[in-house]
Amino acid sequence: MDRPWTVALMFTLLWMQVNCTTGTTSKLCFPSSFMFGVATASYQIEGAWNVSGKGENIWDRYTHTRPERIFDHGTGDVAADSYHQFRQDVRLLKELGVRFYRFSMSWSRILPTGLTNEVNPDGIRYYKELIEELHKNGIEPLVTMYHWDLPQSLQDLGGWTNPVIADYFVDYAKVLLDNFGDRVKFWLTFNEPLSFCHDGYGGSDAPGDRATGMEDYLCGHTVLRAHAAVYRMFQRDYNHRITDLMGITLDMAWIEPASTSAEDKEAAEITRQFFFGWFPHPIFSKQGDYPPVMRKRIDEMSKRQNFTRSRLPHFTKEEVKMLRGACDFLGLNHYTTYLAKRVQRPLSPIPSFDDDMGVQLSQKADWPKSNSTWLKVVPWGLRKTLNWIKGTYGNPPVFITENGISLEPGLRDPRRINYIDGYLRALHAALTKDKCNVYGYTYWSLIDNFEWTRGYSERFGLYEVDYSSKQRVRTARQSAEYYSSVATTKCLPDKVSGYKL
Ligand code: NOJ
Repeated sequence: MDRPWTVALMFTLLWMQVNCTTGTTSKLCFPSSFMFGVATASYQIEGAWNVSGKGENIWDRYTHTRPERIFDHGTGDVAADSYHQFRQDVRLLKELGVRFYRFSMSWSRILPTGLTNEVNPDGIRYYKELIEELHKNGIEPLVTMYHWDLPQSLQDLGGWTNPVIADYFVDYAKVLLDNFGDRVKFWLTFNEPLSFCHDGYGGSDAPGDRATGMEDYLCGHTVLRAHAAVYRMFQRDYNHRITDLMGITLDMAWIEPASTSAEDKEAAEITRQFFFGWFPHPIFSKQGDYPPVMRKRIDEMSKRQNFTRSRLPHFTKEEVKMLRGACDFLGLNHYTTYLAKRVQRPLSPIPSFDDDMGVQLSQKADWPKSNSTWLKVVPWGLRKTLNWIKGTYGNPPVFITENGISLEPGLRDPRRINYIDGYLRALHAALTKDKCNVYGYTYWSLIDNFEWTRGYSERFGLYEVDYSSKQRVRTARQSAEYYSSVATTKCLPDKVSGYKL
């Protein structure tokens, strides 16, 4: 960040609200400038996968050709039909009383071929109308440029493993900034590169069937180069108002050592660097390379596997310069916590991210469950995560861009209320006691949606979506009322959370 204090001041001034919520009450309240919002993503809610000129993306292709990879064989063809129902969605946002709405733009809806030879007027119209509707209702858009739905035509060229995709991403970003830059102040280049590089190019998310320990690192490299180039272009040509900000959203689960042994403590830190440091280290550290522990382990492992060069690519001097400080704020997605244990595996000639990291992860059996196998409820992990970011990167401005829980269908969802309340108490402690620089909180998600390879089986929404109805009718859950009261009063209700902070 070249201008952290400006950013902090700007956030504070911009969002300063008249209703002071602290006063004399003993309630836990957030500063009046603190922002509450909700998030969604294009492929997960829009549907209209092939209407009005939209091109095919990698999730269209994956769900259509590999249905067995999706738990319930679902697709995003219709999803929550937000392409047609977006005015309804904005009504829900208004009802909640949130300050902002985080959503993503679909690259192939705007550029059907992935490239700028053809700009789809309907894609531009759709997002303009959505933004206009938000503004009419006093809701600020926070736009993610890329939330995993790469145009298939670009995947046919190798997707994020091909360095040229960084240039195409810059071209796409330019179209977004040219068309929406005057009405959108807050931008995120990427959502969770760890997930789409690790799970997409090294696991079973789209595009699938790629190579772990190789393509995941190539993907990460292209994404970081693309992020830096877009951030620099934004700074140079589009950052006209002091309120225009650009960040990147990264996901970090908290990693706790599985025991008090020095080995497990080390394993936990290695995991934090592999899972998280991979992306912010080149941006926030002075060295401008990948975390030293990643560099060392992958370089050494590559050598032992007889590769001539490291499987972890190097940045050029110019790229290092472009990356360093290329961020106005750090978007953080946080859901859960894992335990790390050191493992020694025999040398395998076949590369893998897991072998490079050399850690075994688990979760405690008595941590409260959600409807997703990976998501256990551990609110104190959020406080530790925020403190780790503060300590590791010098307390940068952080915006929580996702936090949420999946539960079974139904409108009574006290466990969701308890989850949000527990995590918000942990966040409040990080903010007020630990002085972590956090400016906003985003619940994932506004409505139920397509949960990638889990299809429609996992529901994160404050509003339930009835997938059997043509209109995809949305109905408020109890948690919507709870969240609305927090978003509008900035205070947590008087009740002790069931979870230890
Ligand atoms: C992270 C992703 O950004 C989002 O797409 C996903 O649905 C949620 N986490 C829940 O898994």
